[in-house]
Amino acid sequence: MDLEIVSGVRVARGTEALRAWVLSCRKDGKSIGFVPTMGALHAGHLSLVAHSQAHTDVTVLSIFVNPLQFRPGEDLQAYPRPFARDCQLAAEAGVDVVFAPSAESMYPQGFQTHVEVENLTTGLCGAVRPGHFRGVTTVVCKLLNLVMADVAVFGEKDWQQLQAIARMARDLDHPTRILGAPIVREMNGLAMSSRNVYLSDQQRQAAGAIFASLQDAQLLAQKGETDVSVLEARVRSSITAAGGRVDYATICHSESLLPLTQLLDPARIIVAAYFGKARLLDNCAL
Ligand code: PAJ
Repeated sequence: MDLEIVSGVRVARGTEALRAWVLSCRKDGKSIGFVPTMGALHAGHLSLVAHSQAHTDVTVLSIFVNPLQFRPGEDLQAYPRPFARDCQLAAEAGVDVVFAPSAESMYPQGFQTHVEVENLTTGLCGAVRPGHFRGVTTVVCKLLNLVMADVAVFGEKDWQQLQAIARMARDLDHPTRILGAPIVREMNGLAMSSRNVYLSDQQRQAAGAIFASLQDAQLLAQKGETDVSVLEARVRSSITAAGGRVDYATICHSESLLPLTQLLDPARIIVAAYFGKARLLDNCAL
């Protein structure tokens, strides 16, 4: 089947082309891995590709800046879209097909069906970005239906997103197995993100404080500190001292995401903080 080639990788722009390619892989008895992204690829995304390749014969990577998950006033227009470079990185990483649909093909006129995971999405980022996770789970549900992969890989950087997607897949009987992959970081500990391009060099350096504060909390917890408010306050003050503005720093149950008052297993500290206009996420197990 003839798919367009961009910078050395096959690109399916429409759902028909993608489905045809997926079906031909299935006919050949190949297992399929899937890595959904919004593009502006970095080493974090490419680690998900490697994860997928370790589990399956072929890997589909989607690039779609999903308008449904951006709220009015957020960075939908400004979101970086270096498509040719993304395709080159995908080719170098051995991606078999890039799926790059248009917004019109994903949400044609008359579109009115949404997928919403309830409790998991009310707190943390869901509280400050109402509607965001509804947009995420709706697009991921559609993408899972289109790609029909054996395995789909998501980063632990977006911990709440990973939990919501895993829940949706379980609740809606998606046959695709949802896998999480560890956070890939810059040299100074800053979690890689497409939004890091919004940071000045100085802010990028300073934002290393987020991970340092998480490690500090982890160490304190290991030494026996069980008071959640003490741990959260430490994280908040370290990030603020480095020039960041903390949106939230919350210790919660790793899977239910319910806030904890005393440290219990399995706990996770999740942070969202602004450095300049970039809103950065990070988390770690406690
Ligand atoms: P995006 O921000 O492009 O991220 C795509 C995937 O890469 C997500 O699973 C994210 O958790 C993972 N990722 C990003 N940075 C990472 C890092 N430093 N280390 C490991 N994994 C990392 O998340 C989205 O897009 C969208 O919400 C999407 C799921 C594609 C739905 O539109």
